[in-house]
Amino acid sequence: MSHAARLSPTSALKLVSPAIATIADVAALLATGDALDRVVPSVLGIVADALGAHECSLWRVDETGLWRAYSLGDSATTVADVRKRLDDNSLVGDGLALARLTTGPRLLGAIVVGMEREVSTEEFVLLTTIGTMVAPALVHAEYSRQLETEVALRTRQIEQQRRFTERIIDSMPVGLYVIDREFRIQAWNRKRETGMQGVSREEAIGRTIFEILHRQPAELLREEFEDVFSTGRIAEFQMESKATGEHRTYRITKIPMRVDDTAVTHVITIGEDITEWREAQQRFAQAEKLAAIGTLAAGVMHEINNPLATIAACGESLQLKLREMAEAGQETPRESDDYLSIIEQEVHRCKRIVNGLLEFSRPRAVGKELVDLNEVIEKTLFLLKHHATFKKMSIELDLDRQSVPMVDGNAEQLIQVFMALLLNATDAMQEQGRVKLRTRGAGNGDSIVAEVADDGHGIKRPDLRKIFEPFFTTKPPGRGTGLGLSICYGIIAEHGGRIEVDSAVGQGATFRIFLPRVTT
Ligand SMILES: Nc1ncnc2c1ncn2[C@@H]1O[C@H](COP(=O)(O)OP(=O)(O)OP(=O)(O)O)[C@@H](O)[C@H]1O
Ligand SMILES: [Mg+2]
Repeated sequence: MSHAARLSPTSALKLVSPAIATIADVAALLATGDALDRVVPSVLGIVADALGAHECSLWRVDETGLWRAYSLGDSATTVADVRKRLDDNSLVGDGLALARLTTGPRLLGAIVVGMEREVSTEEFVLLTTIGTMVAPALVHAEYSRQLETEVALRTRQIEQQRRFTERIIDSMPVGLYVIDREFRIQAWNRKRETGMQGVSREEAIGRTIFEILHRQPAELLREEFEDVFSTGRIAEFQMESKATGEHRTYRITKIPMRVDDTAVTHVITIGEDITEWREAQQRFAQAEKLAAIGTLAAGVMHEINNPLATIAACGESLQLKLREMAEAGQETPRESDDYLSIIEQEVHRCKRIVNGLLEFSRPRAVGKELVDLNEVIEKTLFLLKHHATFKKMSIELDLDRQSVPMVDGNAEQLIQVFMALLLNATDAMQEQGRVKLRTRGAGNGDSIVAEVADDGHGIKRPDLRKIFEPFFTTKPPGRGTGLGLSICYGIIAEHGGRIEVDSAVGQGATFRIFLPRVTT
């Protein structure tokens, strides 16, 4: 460089001006901040043009060593050549000129130019200057590439996390949605997409809850949400719905959610179908209640039976006494015969009730044997054939003939059960009613279900829970004691089975008896 000082200013300018033009071109390119893959070949092209080089390449140093990153023209230069020249600090000579690319003490690589002629000092200065400019661009490119990789990785992680969370809420067997302060839906799970009331996620997201749940009164919905937004407390309630056609019970839970730990920003709503759970609970409660009534009844009945027997015996003795007096020609009070027969009748009525109650609370431990339930039903029908109201009914029989429904039971008691059910059915129907009797395998084949379905007036919902209680009757006085179904309940329970009812007003009633099957 020292001989540059000996040049006249004009010739120096002549020499320097193409260099300045080259540097300006390179600077302009680097300033674009364009991807390094595109900038570096262009920079090398400009350098090669400016110097008339036949080879121009960029070499990089990284943890894997020194390597050729880009190359223009035929290159005979090897890694060893470049390494040695850099190590020896012999940057110019033998048709090669090298510009170190450094940032602070760190060597990033080198630009290597191959020329037919010797490289002038000015050209070397130009090359070094370009090297100085390219180095930071390389570092930036490195950073931005790292950043790109990092961003891509994070984006993938976030996407995975999002999908994972979505899967969680989609896998839940409950309907779930989330709304924001504007009542706009922000999340809508798979369960809410399915079923008759299902709405697709695409349709729901972004719309207000009032638009989507348009069947529910908007004001009530708004109030429920406002309550959670303002109090920040979980709200839970049960809801009856007939939206699917059948009567179902849902447990609705509204949970406040805070995105930044301050005010409530969203409300999560979970809807859970608890119909089966509630029915099971009610059945359980009913079984417990009936058991308690049974124990009480058994105690009371036992106490009543003895005085009844005494009254009956006294009545009989009086009757005998009066007969003896009459035979002896003695005068007896005129009404005494009538009174005594009333006493006898009433005692008998009490006994029937007592026995009925005892049947419910503690069915007699009667002998059991293998019984064909189909035969039991046929025998019941035979016995009822002559019953006046029964004649007007049409009976539809659908008995399982394939796998004979054998149970371990007492045929007499089982006939009593079907008789009570059929008599109730006739009571519930107008003339020309229809009763269907059906037997089938149930459960995993380990039980049998016998159905008695009528098309009568049906049972009111609140009554459904009471019909198995002793003395519950809706029939006029003198028509029913309300013991029929409670006796059925007791007998079936004693047989290790259960009795269920399915009914609604105006839609008939179906009684189902489940009994353990005996495989022969
Ligand atoms: N098939 C049915 N359809 C409509 N309601 C019914 C049916 N079976 C029973 N019920 C209702 O259940 C109540 C109780 O029946 P349950 O057989 O225990 O007593 P009851 O028939 O009233 O009197 P009892 O059988 O002692 O003569 C009935 O009064 C009636 O309201
Ligand atoms: Mg009855």
